[in-house]
Amino acid sequence: MGYVSQAQFEEDQRRPMPAPVEGVSLEGEVVIVTGANTGIGYEAAKHFAIRGPKKLIMMARNEARGRPAVEKLKQETGFQNVELWLMDFSSFESVKATKEKIDQLERLDILVENAALTLEDYTVTKDGWENILQVNHLSFGLHAMYHIPKMLETAKKYGANPRIVLVSSDTHYWTRVPAEAIEAPNSLEFLNSKEYSTREGIMGGQRYMESKILATMLIRRFQAHLPPNSPTVTCCAVNPGFCLSELRRGVTGEAAEEYRKMEEELAFTAEEGSRQLLYAAIGQRDREEEVRGGYVSFMKVTECSDFILGEEGQKLENKLWTETMDVLGKVDERTKDIVKQYLS
Ligand SMILES: NC(=O)c1ccc[n+]([C@@H]2O[C@H](COP(=O)([O-])OP(=O)(O)OC[C@H]3O[C@@H](n4cnc5c(N)ncnc54)[C@H](OP(=O)(O)O)[C@@H]3O)[C@@H](O)[C@H]2O)c1
Repeated sequence: MGYVSQAQFEEDQRRPMPAPVEGVSLEGEVVIVTGANTGIGYEAAKHFAIRGPKKLIMMARNEARGRPAVEKLKQETGFQNVELWLMDFSSFESVKATKEKIDQLERLDILVENAALTLEDYTVTKDGWENILQVNHLSFGLHAMYHIPKMLETAKKYGANPRIVLVSSDTHYWTRVPAEAIEAPNSLEFLNSKEYSTREGIMGGQRYMESKILATMLIRRFQAHLPPNSPTVTCCAVNPGFCLSELRRGVTGEAAEEYRKMEEELAFTAEEGSRQLLYAAIGQRDREEEVRGGYVSFMKVTECSDFILGEEGQKLENKLWTETMDVLGKVDERTKDIVKQYLS
């Protein structure tokens, strides 16, 4: 099913969220969660902590946002082997600075790429990208790529099945990337242009949903470029569902009021949503192949949108791979080696 109607969405939101995956110990494993200081990411980090990994790395954009969350998690779970790593996804320099630390890890079993944002206004990062495009797509791609060598090494050395989980969204079902962007000489540049980004109705909802389409395409491409069989890395996207969190903190006016009503009626708690991240990261360990390149929703591997799977979406997905790798290659030469050695 590559489509979720509004009625289906509401029905899904009204049913109880299935219980968290049970019976999986993370003993000896290393787990990283981005955007772990609040919301769904924080709750996912707690689920990992109570399953006893060797090390849990919680990522946050700065000390002030991150440190209290680490202390709170230690207190709430009793789990102490937690590190705080700082990184701001709106700065390529900040993402680049994490590579050496990643390389020094002994192993890496689970990477949950959860950090993302939505904004109502058009803003440009110091790297020249519209903020949502950089945080939710490009920096996610750069950051995830850095882990691939370590995760492949973990797969080989420990016979493990490391997973990269991208936190996507069911909102990706409700829009498409416009044909003019797909047909443009460079789709990413088209989407990033001030002319397109400031058109009526793009910032806020549409841009956020587009960014989730792009990121979902990218995680699928990572899988397609990785070795098909173990030792390899499993890449998947997951939908946490509509949840209470800080995500809509910047929404104002009528839209804020609409969200408030919708939250009252339909939202899961952040903890309930985080169960889906947990499932995408450690569920179905006996059926790893089914998860590879998949889209997880309500604890099931299902289809992402018809747009992504259709002819136009696939055209864009292929184009996007080349364009994204081009951008990241300019940001950091080291990504070219990663593509050459591990993703060709
Ligand atoms: N809540 C929902 O209804 C819903 C539905 C579908 C999908 N999702 C997805 O679920 C994931 C978690 O979102 P959430 O709902 O838990 O929202 P949230 O409470 O706002 O958490 C988002 C996390 O991402 C971090 N983040 C944002 N921009 C960042 C940056 N530039 N650098 C580093 N970290 C950054 C935030 O850090 P700060 O705290 O410092 O801002 C926070 O830790 C996101 O990918 C979101 O798109 C959420």
